[in-house]
Amino acid sequence: GRCLAVFTSGGDAQGMNPAVRAVVRMGIYLGCKVYFIHEGYQGMVAGGNLIRQATWASVSGILDDGGTIIGSARCLEFRERPGRLRAAKNLIDHEINNIVCIGGDGSLTGANLFRKEWEGLVKELSEKGEITKENAEKFNYLNIVGLVGSIDNDFCGTDMTIGADSALHRIMEAIDCITTTASSHQRCFVMEVMGRHCGYLALVTALGSDADWVFMPESPPEPDWEDKLCEKLKITRENGQRLNIIVIAEGAIDKEGNPITSEYIKDLITKRLHYDTRITILGHVQRGGTPSGFDRILGTRMGTEAVLALMEATPTSQPVVIALSGNQTVRVPLMLCTLAVAQAMKEKNFILAQELRGRSFKR
Ligand code: F6P
Repeated sequence: GRCLAVFTSGGDAQGMNPAVRAVVRMGIYLGCKVYFIHEGYQGMVAGGNLIRQATWASVSGILDDGGTIIGSARCLEFRERPGRLRAAKNLIDHEINNIVCIGGDGSLTGANLFRKEWEGLVKELSEKGEITKENAEKFNYLNIVGLVGSIDNDFCGTDMTIGADSALHRIMEAIDCITTTASSHQRCFVMEVMGRHCGYLALVTALGSDADWVFMPESPPEPDWEDKLCEKLKITRENGQRLNIIVIAEGAIDKEGNPITSEYIKDLITKRLHYDTRITILGHVQRGGTPSGFDRILGTRMGTEAVLALMEATPTSQPVVIALSGNQTVRVPLMLCTLAVAQAMKEKNFILAQELRGRSFKR
């Protein structure tokens, strides 16, 4: 049978384990030998004990575990060619040339670069006598399938990334806790949520929590926002509302691209309205805990589809990402997803980047 490997890379996300489980079981079901690469690219570069065969039983009981049982890391060595050369040798030593990468934007871009270089790496390893001529011929191409695991829901080409729904659940629970105490004391809360450059979590949080205002990078406020915000808050209080919730994405910016911070908003409200204002930064709580039902199913669907895509891949086929589009799992070219967004980000065009990233906003 063929050999395939699965690894998780970059920031973890709830639902990665269901995806890992699906890859392992679908792979075994189709007669493949499946390997775990532990600790992301770091394990691929280091090899040895970090590349281990997976069994049907080794993924039992992990559907409801948050995070990733096979570990994740940000790896500097893989960013340099010598690191990737070692990674290629380690894979070929295990006869692996099919890999499933579960990660975010950066991890998948890295995977794509690796694939492009693969032929050259194999040639070099063969010339140096580090792999046999026979293996160099047999494994002269690399198949890659990506799954997007990130709480940020910031990936172009998919309606939802694995983990975003669970993170939203975590945030909702936290906001529900804040509102009771906020109401008792007639306080105003500035709730800062994650998302890096993406405002998805902030927007859906605001919609789901009866918030008074939301700041997000894709929609910088008008220059007179300070007056408008204060006016709005005043009206809500005059109408008998005992609390205020302002949701802010960690990547929030103004029209000039300067960050808008939670501190700044708190100071503004305290100075102008004299409301008792507090900041809650949710942080990594959002990335923890059990995956939601949606993320368990999403991870499972994407993991199985990833293995099917690998089995159907030919030496010349382009790497794909498994995406959700209109509730269907589909295969989209990896390059289409990463390149356009990278370009928009380079130009600091966050609005275009977001339009490219999420279909959810366009519909
Ligand atoms: O990409 C997921 C994410 O949680 C972002 O929302 C956040 O900006 C970042 O990772 C935090 O990174 P770290 O876990 O390295 O602090």
